Amino acid sequence: MNKFFLNLGSQPLANNYLNKYFKKQIKYNLKLYFNNRTNLVSISKRIPSKKMFNNKYPYKSSLSKTMQKSFLDLSFEIKKRFNPKFFLEIGSNDGTLIKNFPKNKTIAIEPCSNLAKITKKRGYKTYSEFWDNKLVNKLLKKHNKVDLIYSANTLTHISNLDDVFSSINRLLCDEGILIIEDPSLLECIKKVSYDQFYNEHIYVFSALSVQNILKKFNLEIFDIKNLNTHGGSLRYYIKKKKNNKFKIHKSVKQQLKIEIKFGLDKLSTYRKFAKLTLKSKTKLLSLLKNLKISGKKIIGYGATAKATTVLNYCKIDDNYIDYFLDTTPDKANKFMPGKKIKILKYKKRLLTNVDYIFLGAWNFKKEIFIKEKKFIKNGGKFITHVPSPRILLK
Ligand code: TYD
Repeated sequence: MNKFFLNLGSQPLANNYLNKYFKKQIKYNLKLYFNNRTNLVSISKRIPSKKMFNNKYPYKSSLSKTMQKSFLDLSFEIKKRFNPKFFLEIGSNDGTLIKNFPKNKTIAIEPCSNLAKITKKRGYKTYSEFWDNKLVNKLLKKHNKVDLIYSANTLTHISNLDDVFSSINRLLCDEGILIIEDPSLLECIKKVSYDQFYNEHIYVFSALSVQNILKKFNLEIFDIKNLNTHGGSLRYYIKKKKNNKFKIHKSVKQQLKIEIKFGLDKLSTYRKFAKLTLKSKTKLLSLLKNLKISGKKIIGYGATAKATTVLNYCKIDDNYIDYFLDTTPDKANKFMPGKKIKILKYKKRLLTNVDYIFLGAWNFKKEIFIKEKKFIKNGGKFITHVPSPRILLK
């Protein structure tokens, strides 16, 4: 049964960057639930996929060196460990991963047509469609079954998980492998990063919940890797139960044990998280208020969907944060969703006279700190809200 544990208030669509600030924007109530039968954590309100993933989707994986490296390393690993005959990616974005595979042995699935266009142009067979059983019917008419399906940060965006996994199961050949990676619920709860929740993230998965979903489809996890991407992610290696080629690695038992020890199977853990989230809001607001009282200039860095959750939950406006900087061309000169805070295209000179930077892209802290050595050397400071709001000393 779904049990309510946190209300993150009235939130706009997290990636809906508008050219003009409108006081009245479409908003919805962001409430979080824990299912004590399946251990699945989800948001209540489901926005139609077409409203979120269309020809204006701004996020491009290729804009981050961290993501480029993570995908390059993964491509080496996949080739060495599984040597797939045919590779299919669900949610291929702008092709940052698939470009490392031969064009004649791949299929890209990307519903956002602005992104699908990029892989199509490069010569990759791309279907600009949503992943579901209907698409798989079409694929099965045109192609053979596939021996490797990969999906990063996509399956958590799809409401109907039964359809997701039954369709994958149909397309995957018996000895095939499914690899999925998504933000880790354990890391999210540990870091009090309530900003992992927004309209696109219908679910935040744990190994416990993924294991439960897979059971229905005779699929099982045979290996798990902890990754640093997106503030802490899990990569699940999945096979059909009848495939005995891969032994179940001890990493699976280990992860499940850690999650149970932490209490990811108990409602009380989520209630505690809700209390810490409220504390985090109070502390962040008081930190920003005090800095403003002492005349400091604060800006934001990384106009992330996560930052949208923080700004709208904490009610942070341009009276605290002057503007956000972001490298994404499609976000430039637009406004943070729901807030009158402008996003400016990243330029080093926009950091002069800035005292503090709120790290919207805290998941790229390492990359950003290397890039902004000079700002730090000149006395500039970063603010983060994870695991609790504070000024970062390094
Ligand atoms: P992302 O990590 O995908 O967060 P979310 O899923 O919450 O939207 O987005 C990172 C954002 O940060 C993206 O808009 C690009 C931006 N960014 C910069 O502006 N400069 C940087 O150096 C890095 C690494 C990211």
